[in-house]
Amino acid sequence: MPQTTLPIELTVNGTLRGIDVAPHHTLLEVLRDDLQLTGSKECCLVGECGACTILVNGRSVDSCLVLAVEADGADVLTVEGLASPDGRLAPIQAAFLDQGGVQCGFCTPGQLMSAHALLAGHPHPTRAEIEEGMAGNLCRCACYEQIFAAIDQAASGAAPAVTGASVRAEAGDAWAGAKTSAEGLDQ
Ligand code: FES
Ligand code: FES
Repeated sequence: MPQTTLPIELTVNGTLRGIDVAPHHTLLEVLRDDLQLTGSKECCLVGECGACTILVNGRSVDSCLVLAVEADGADVLTVEGLASPDGRLAPIQAAFLDQGGVQCGFCTPGQLMSAHALLAGHPHPTRAEIEEGMAGNLCRCACYEQIFAAIDQAASGAAPAVTGASVRAEAGDAWAGAKTSAEGLDQ
């Protein structure tokens, strides 16, 4: 029997997308499988780890817990939309690199999105606000101190203004390596 699909529209990283989705598919599945935006990671699928965090209408959500049909008409920001189109990293991305907040990289997309949402609401967060804002994002490499330092750095405006290309050159391709290892874990 053919599977029923429903048409929805999402604005994803600034681009309006029309998609036919299965009613039971999550926003995470649609982003990864239909739109090939695999930055958001699939891990616990029960809202515990934060690896799938994205912004929906400006609010951070676990995309594994949202049905795609529930997001019809929404404005969605994923980690792929953080850097500017010319490859310049967002300050929070540059700060993660600067502070060593990335090890295996699996949790990094979700951490970045939660940090981005935190800084949007609290441009100069206290340590307690950082800990509370990031409480839903687990890091099995235990980079918490480096991640918190990166958020502090981004909040202070001290992150270096670097492009993705120059960061990769300076950091021995650490960012690309982390991305690759994170994507490798999808397999
Ligand atoms: S995969 Fe969504 S919270 Fe873990
Ligand atoms: S860097 Fe967080 S899980 Fe590895």
